[in-house]
Amino acid sequence: MNTQQLAASVVQGVSPGHASTPVGLLQGRLHALNDLYLTLKHAHWNLVGPNFIAVHELLDAQADAVRVMTDDVAERIATLGGVAQGTAGALVAERAWDDYGIGRADTSIHLSALDASYTRVIEGTREAVTVSGVNEPATEDLLIGQLRGLEKSQWLVRAHLATGADRPAGSTAAKSGG
Ligand SMILES: [Fe+2]
Repeated sequence: MNTQQLAASVVQGVSPGHASTPVGLLQGRLHALNDLYLTLKHAHWNLVGPNFIAVHELLDAQADAVRVMTDDVAERIATLGGVAQGTAGALVAERAWDDYGIGRADTSIHLSALDASYTRVIEGTREAVTVSGVNEPATEDLLIGQLRGLEKSQWLVRAHLATGADRPAGSTAAKSGG
């Protein structure tokens, strides 16, 4: 992010020098979230098999939630005087991860891959929270809220992958007749 991309008006109390750090962090988050949004829709369209309708609808709701996150991140970049790079070309040029590689496949295959996608996005968000906390508490606050939402979505994905073997020792949940 160069200084030409930072407009003259930056939020009160945040100098352009300090603004460039959260703008750079947020641009990384914007790419990660735009990619996750498209990936969730891709899986929503192409999964088949057990629990189809439940997973199909779950992923649509999660995509909607991530789309809201992209908007909040992009508008925070603009608020800080930066340029929110939202094009597919910029995303592909600047991302450090491989494209989602699964087409038509069982729900469990997509859910396992999405679990890994969430892990990557959550780890990046957690790192950005740590760095942004040094200079820019409003960005830190935004990212902490998104971290909480992403972790909840990952829990919902993982709950579909859990089996009886995951239950704690001594659990009576597998017994019937109750
Ligand atoms: Fe749909």
